[in-house]
Order: sequence, then C-alpha cells, then structure tokens
Amino acid sequence: MIEDIYRILDTIPEHEPERQFFFIKKMQDIVYAKEQEYGRKLTYHISTFGCQMNFKDSEKLAGVLEEIGFTEVDDEKADFCLYNTCTVRENANSRVYGRLGYLGKLKSRKPEMIIAMCGCMMQEEHVVETIKKSYRFVDIIFGTHNIYKLAELLYQYYLYNDDVKKAKPVKRKHRMIVDILKGTDKIVEELPSKLKASFKAGINIMFGCNNFCTYCIVPYVRGRERSRKPDDIINEIKDFVSKGVIEVMLLGQNVNSYGKNLDEPISFAELLRRVDDIEGLKRIRFMTSHPKDLSDELIEVMKNSKKVCRHIHLPVQSGSSRLLKKMNRVYSKEDYLKLIDKIRAAMPDIAITTDIIVGFPGETEEDFRETLDVVRYAKYSSAFTFIYSKRTGTPAASFPDQVDSNVIKDRFDRLLKEVNKYSEEFAKSLEGQTLPVLVEERDREVEPDKNYLTGRLDNNLLVHFEGSDELIGQIINVKLKECKGFYYIGETDT
Ligand code: 5AD
Ligand code: SF4
Repeated sequence: MIEDIYRILDTIPEHEPERQFFFIKKMQDIVYAKEQEYGRKLTYHISTFGCQMNFKDSEKLAGVLEEIGFTEVDDEKADFCLYNTCTVRENANSRVYGRLGYLGKLKSRKPEMIIAMCGCMMQEEHVVETIKKSYRFVDIIFGTHNIYKLAELLYQYYLYNDDVKKAKPVKRKHRMIVDILKGTDKIVEELPSKLKASFKAGINIMFGCNNFCTYCIVPYVRGRERSRKPDDIINEIKDFVSKGVIEVMLLGQNVNSYGKNLDEPISFAELLRRVDDIEGLKRIRFMTSHPKDLSDELIEVMKNSKKVCRHIHLPVQSGSSRLLKKMNRVYSKEDYLKLIDKIRAAMPDIAITTDIIVGFPGETEEDFRETLDVVRYAKYSSAFTFIYSKRTGTPAASFPDQVDSNVIKDRFDRLLKEVNKYSEEFAKSLEGQTLPVLVEERDREVEPDKNYLTGRLDNNLLVHFEGSDELIGQIINVKLKECKGFYYIGETDT
C-alpha cells in the first residue's frame, strides 16, 4: 500500500481542478474493476438535509460520482451512501443520528458498502468525535470547505481498505478517512456537476457568511464570505443555458454583499444586470437577501428586468428592534418596514417571503407582538417560522433568559395562524388570472391520484394542473382556477 502511495505521489498534480481529475481517473479504474467483479454497475445515493446551498453541493458531489462511474439509485441500499448534513438547528442533527443507526444496520448486512458524511454538521468537532466513537462503521467524513475533494478521499479510502490494483478488499484494520478544513479561501471551479432538473440550476455566487447573527452557527461551519469572480459565474450560467437551462437561482448566505471582497469589487445589482443580459435565460431568482445590505440599485435592476422573478426572500427574524439588536441583525423594525415600502412602491405585485425565529433568549410578549405587527404589515406570501434552537458556540447560547418551551409553543402557534392568514390572502388575490408557469415535474404529493403536473409561478407559488410530460421544462400559461390556500389547481389553455 505504502509503495503504491510513493508510486503515484510524484505524479499527483498539485493544483485544482487537475488534481481532482487525476483522482477521478484513478477511481474510474477502481470502479471499472469492481463492476467486472460484481457483474453490475456500482450505485450511489445522496441524502441531503438543509438549505439550497446543501442541495447545490449535492449536485456537485453527484457530478463527480457519475464521472467516476457510479449510477444513482433512489434509496440508501447503495454501494456508496452519502449524507450531506445540516446543523442550523438541533433537530437537524438529531435526524441525522437517527438515520445513521439505520445505515449501520444496512452495512452490517452489506459490509462492502461505503458510508460517507459531509456538510455543515461535520464542521463541528463534537459531531466528528461522536461519530468516531459511536458510529465506527462510517468510512469517510469531510466538511463544507472540501467537497471538491470527494474523488481524492474515495481513492484514499480504497488505498487503505482495498488492494487498489486488484480492487479487492484487504484484511487491514478499518480506517476512517477524516478530512475537515477549518477555513479556506479556496474556490475550485470546473468540476462536473449533475443537475436535479435539466432546465434549472442553482449557481453559487459566494460562499460563507460574515454577519455573525448571534443565534446562527453558519459563519462557524461555512467560514468567511468569499465571492466567485463575475466572469466565472457568467460563463457557468452561459454554459448551463447552452445545455437547456432556462432558470437560475443565484445562491449565497447574503447575496447583497456579493463582490465586496473581490480584487475588482462589483455590486450584486451589477452582477444581476449582467446575468439578465444572458440570451436564452428566462428566469432569474436569488437568495438570501440580508435586509441591511439591500440597495436601491438592486430594486431598480429588479424593477427593470423581465427575467428577475417578482419574489424576494427577506428574512426579518424578529419584529422587535430590541431583539434585532441582540441578534446582531444591524437593522431596526422601522428600517425593515421602510425597506418593504420601498420594494412594494417599485414592484406592487412582488411576493415577499421571510424567516422568523420565535423564542430568542429574552423574547417578551411585547417583543413577540412586534413580530406579529411586522407580519401584518409585510403581508408575506409565505414565511418559514422556526423555534429558536440553542447552538453551542454561538453567543446567544449563553444569553440569560432562555424562554420557557410552553410559552414558545403558544407563540409559535399564534404566529403560524397569522402567517397563514396573509399567505392565503396573497394567493387568493391571484385566483382566476392566467399566468406563466415553469412546469417542473409530475405532482406526487398534492393530488397524487390525479397525475397532475406541478409548476411554479414567477412569484414562487405552486400550481398543479393536468398535462403531458412534454410540458416539463417549459414556461406555459396556466389559468389559476382554484386557490387551495398556498397553491392553486390550474388549467392550461389547450
Ligand atoms: N434557531 C432557530 N432558527 C435559526 N435559524 C438560523 N439559526 C437558527 C437557530 N439557532 C433560521 C434563521 C435563518 C434560517 C435559515 O434559519 O431564520 O434565516
Ligand atoms: Fe446566519 Fe445571519 Fe449569516 Fe444568515 S446572515 S447565515 S442568519 S449569520
């Protein structure tokens, strides 16, 4: 084994992405040899938890696995099983541990299966320690900064656990490959990626976050803010468009501070203008917008564009200026409401969505009522409501006055009622109109027995309607026949 490392060491390229293409090639040979041995294709499955960033990362991981020669399957009974984890709230962690127990049982019946864990949860030392101690069957652990290294880590795994020349397991002590980087500025471009849907793509425009909201663990697990170069972004989008993509979602923890740390600084609004100019692209979305950085220039670009969707996700977190200060959000309730006014004045038909946390330490009934006030004023088309979750290592975890769980539950229910009232009102206001819809897939959830299609309006609301598979990936006009609360039953012209 060691000789093998020496033999390849002087041939390994130092720089990325060449280095990963080298390991992809090495892995192709191994996978090919295994296919010959098993007489079938090798399979993979990725379970993704959390936000759009994680889903985007999973597309990149899938791209590398397919390039290596793995084939995707729908369930975890695969040769390579990967969990891309989230840690923004404690219940995300608990879910992963629960599922890991199941994976352990699978592996005891199928020892040659490889289990890998990556994502935000792995950036926490106590998590890696727990896995090393209590889930020893896990084979590979990596974090958020080095997802581009998947092929290299897989090769390392085989190097220790297999005879890589013959692709046969060897009798050595099982060795867990753990590769966690604490922080890096590195952005690796041009590795393969596999889109979930051929007509829409998430595009990372930046990574990490510098805001340090006091409740949030993201800056600790995703690192400092780094922006990709505008030309790299534009070229990636043009490439996707040439392959049939018509909608892009520009992704960043705080897109409004895009470009500030580049050698040649550029604003998010300017980037959006450049994306807007790309021929063949039909819809542009972006998330997330931090209210403190949303510029007049951005509102102007949105207003003048036919492609930028009439939807903005603008997390408020709380309506109380006192709590917003404790959260380190750097805006007051009044600033936020003024921003809503400005956006609505420019685009009266815009759908505004938000994130709200209930039960932040020290939240009083008065603070909570201020949040309800904002909900009534902003008339959100939808809102993600969260119960505050104490994250070890964040400043808020040691704040006094953690709120009683019964009080939180009561407030959460009241908030949900208020939020639902306005989202239903928003949806109802469009009932009867005929509007363009991007048809996404067969509807398997809302009316599964009716074999409907599901599509999305420009404002992000869902419409379910009858139609044939050929419509998937197209933008067509659909009449919003009946509002069902948060979605519509629609009808096509034909
Ligand atoms: N507890 C509850 N919700 C949280 N969020 C982030 N951290 C926490 C936490 N500790 C929510 C915020 C953020 C969204 C992605 O998750 O509302 O906008
Ligand atoms: Fe977390 Fe705040 Fe950064 Fe959003 S802006 S990722 S809530 S620290």
